[in-house]
Amino acid sequence: MRITNAALFLLFPVLLMNTAYAQDDPNLGIIPAPASLVKSSGTFTFSKSTIIKASQPNDKAVALFKDFILINRGLNNKVIKYSPKTKGSGTQVVLTARGSEALPAEGYKLIIAPRKITVIGKGAGLFYGIQTLIQLFPIDKVATANLPCLIITDEPRFGYRGMMLDVSRHFFNVAQVKKVIDLMAFYKLNNFHWHLVDGVGWRIQIKKYPKLTEVGGTRLQTMFGSNRDWPDGLPYTGFYTQDEIRDVVKYAADRFINVVPEIEMPAHSDAALRAYPELMCTPDTSIKNPARTTGIYCPTEETFTFLENVLTEVMDLFPSKYIHIGGDEANKQPWKESAFCQSLIKQLNLKDENALQSYFIQRIEKFLNSKGRSIIGWDEILEGGLAPNATVMSWTGEAGGIAAAQQKHNVIMTPQTTGLYFDHYQSRSPLEPVSFGRYAIFSETYNYEPVPKVLTAEEKKYIIGVQGNLWTEYVPSVAKLQYQILPRLFALSEIAWSKPEKKDYKTFFELRLAKHFERLDAMHYNYRVPTAFDVIDTMMIGAQFTMEPKTFIPGARIFYTLNGRDPLDTDLPYEAPVVFNIPPGEKRTFKTLVITPSGRRSLPTSAVMFNQAPITATAYTANNPGLKFTLVKGNFTSIDELDYAPADTSGITKTLETTEFRKTRPNSGIIYEGYISVLTDGIYNFYTATYNDTQLSIDNIKLNENEGAISLLKGYHKIKIKYFYNAPAVGVRRRNTPSPRIYMIAPGTVDKRLVAADVLFN
Ligand code: ACM
Repeated sequence: MRITNAALFLLFPVLLMNTAYAQDDPNLGIIPAPASLVKSSGTFTFSKSTIIKASQPNDKAVALFKDFILINRGLNNKVIKYSPKTKGSGTQVVLTARGSEALPAEGYKLIIAPRKITVIGKGAGLFYGIQTLIQLFPIDKVATANLPCLIITDEPRFGYRGMMLDVSRHFFNVAQVKKVIDLMAFYKLNNFHWHLVDGVGWRIQIKKYPKLTEVGGTRLQTMFGSNRDWPDGLPYTGFYTQDEIRDVVKYAADRFINVVPEIEMPAHSDAALRAYPELMCTPDTSIKNPARTTGIYCPTEETFTFLENVLTEVMDLFPSKYIHIGGDEANKQPWKESAFCQSLIKQLNLKDENALQSYFIQRIEKFLNSKGRSIIGWDEILEGGLAPNATVMSWTGEAGGIAAAQQKHNVIMTPQTTGLYFDHYQSRSPLEPVSFGRYAIFSETYNYEPVPKVLTAEEKKYIIGVQGNLWTEYVPSVAKLQYQILPRLFALSEIAWSKPEKKDYKTFFELRLAKHFERLDAMHYNYRVPTAFDVIDTMMIGAQFTMEPKTFIPGARIFYTLNGRDPLDTDLPYEAPVVFNIPPGEKRTFKTLVITPSGRRSLPTSAVMFNQAPITATAYTANNPGLKFTLVKGNFTSIDELDYAPADTSGITKTLETTEFRKTRPNSGIIYEGYISVLTDGIYNFYTATYNDTQLSIDNIKLNENEGAISLLKGYHKIKIKYFYNAPAVGVRRRNTPSPRIYMIAPGTVDKRLVAADVLFN
C-alpha cells in the first residue's frame, strides 16, 4: 500500500512541444554540457558532397564518424587526408590533432563555421569532439542537415567516468554488452567496470581452472519477481570465452573506454567455491543456494596461488591499469570458526578478522602491483587498514570515500545513497518493474556532487571520478537493463564530465533530454519514459483544481481518464488544462499516461481530488498512551483475511514493533485501535512503507493506496491499523516487513514515523 503526499504535488504550466527545444538551451541540447559553448550566426549545411578531411583517415574515431553518417544519414561521404595547405571549395569537416597541443587530456575544440567544421583533439579528445558534433545533427534522416555555427571548447571534470554492469546475477551476451559500451561512448564515459564474478555466477573463462565456468557459470535457480521469495527452479548459465572478452576490450578501446574487470574476493565467491570447494576454510560441497553471497575464500597458500593464476589470465586479457578485487560485504564468520584462520591471525600478529582481510587484500595488491597494475576495492577494504596503493570505490555512502581521501588514497564515488545505484527503483510507484528495494530518483542522480565539502582542497584532488552501478538481481532482460540505466546514464554523464556550475536540472530535464530520447528511439534502446507529473500518485483535498500534465518528449502524447482506470491510447488525449470543480464530499481521479511516438509508455500517474469537509475531533479525553491491540490467529496473505480470523489475545501496547509478539507467534495478524492526536487543523498525509500487509483507517475512513490525505481538525481522531506478519520459509527472504511502518506528514512538517506511545492513545 502506498499513500502519497498532496503537499508535494506540483502543478506545471503547459509547455507546447516543438522542435525549438534544443535552440532554447544554452548548451544546444548537448549532454554532457560542454565547458564552453559560444553560439555564432549562420549554419553549416552537411550534405552528400561535404568532404571529410582527417589528419589520420584510418583513425578509428574517423571511421566511426563515417559510419554514423552512413548509418544515420544514409550518406557515403568521402574521407580524404587533411592537409592545411589545400583549401576545398565545398563544405568540409576537418578532423585533426593539429592545434591540440594546448588542450588538456581528453579535451577538444569544435568550431562550426558556415562552410567548415573543425574538430581539434587527439586520441580521446578527437573522439569526444566527434561525439559532440554527432549530437548536433538532427535525428531525422533528411539528406541535408543544418548545424548551428558555434565554438565549443571542452574538457572533462573527472578522469574516471565509470559505469558498472553486473553480469553475474544475470548474464548479458557480447552484443548486449556492446550496446552499453556504445551508450557510454556517446556520453563520454570512459571506464566500463565489468562485474564478472559474484556469488551466483562466474562469467569469465579461465583456462587453468575450467570448472570456474563449467560449474560456477551455472546457478540452479533464480529468485526474481514480485514473488521474489520463490525461486523459479530454472538452471541459468552463461560466460564469456577469452576471445569474446578480447573482442569486448578492443571494442571498448576503440571508443576510448577502458574495461576494468572485477574479480571478487575474499567474499561474494560462492560461484568459485562451488567449483573449487577446497578453497573454503571448511570444504562444503553442498552449497546450492544461489542467493548465498557470503562464500569466502580461506586465506591459504592454495587460495593465493589460485587467485594469482586467475589474475594472471585476467591481466593477459585486460590492459587496464586498474583491476577491481571487490572486497565488499565479507561475512567473516567462516574465518572466525576456522582453526587455520585463527592460527594465521596469531602467527601474523593481526588484531582480528578485519585485519586478516586487510592482509588478504594487501597480498593481492602486492602481486598486482608487481605486474604494474593497481587495485580498486569497495569501501570495506578500509576495514583493518587500507592496502598502500589501493583506490577506493565508495559505495555504502560517502564516508568510505572521505576516509580514503583523507588517507591520501584515490577515490571513485558511487554511493548507493545518492542516486548512483541504477538497480534501485526510479520512483515510488507500485507499478515500477520489480527492482532493488531502494529509490534512486532521476533528479537525485543528476544533483549528486561527487566531491564532499568536508574535504580540504588538497584532499579533494583524490576524488578521481564517479560511477553508476547496475546490479542485476532484478534485471533479467536487456529491456530491463536499458530501462534501469536510461535516462539515468545521461545524468551520470553530466556529473562526471561537466563543471558543476554548468549543471542546471531544469534545462537538463525540460529542454536537453528531449533530443536524447528521440535518439534512443532511433537507436532502438528501451528507456524509462518520464511520467506526466513528477509526483506519480497523490491526493489533494480541495474544491477546485486545474490539471496540467506535461511531457518533454518531442511528439509524445498524454492520455487521461476520469474514471479511475489506468489510461490507454484510446482514452482522452490531453490538449489543454483540465479544470475540476468538485462537489462537497465527492472525489475525482485524474490519471495520465504518456505515450511516445515510438510507442513507449510511461507509468500511469494518479491524482485523487477530494472535496472533503474537515473532520471534527472526537470527544475522547482519557489520554492513555498506546493503542489497544487484538492478535488474531492465522498465516495471512491479505489484510481482508484478518476480519474472519479467530481472536488470540489482546491488550495495550506502547509500541508498533512486533518483536515481542513474534517470539511466541511466528505468524499472526494484529488489529490496533485507539486515537491519534493531531495538533493543528489541516491536511494530514499518511503512508505506509510496506507491501500489502498494512491497512490504516482514520475516523473509519480507509486510507488506501494513492488516497492518503485527510482533512482533520485539531484534537483526537479514531485510528485503526490492521497488520499481519509471517515467518519466512527456511532459506528464503522475509516476505513482509517485521512491523507496521506508518508515516504521517502533518501540515508544514516532514514525514514522521508513528510509534504507538508517541501520538497514539487508547
Ligand atoms: C556493493 O554494492 N555490494 C558493492
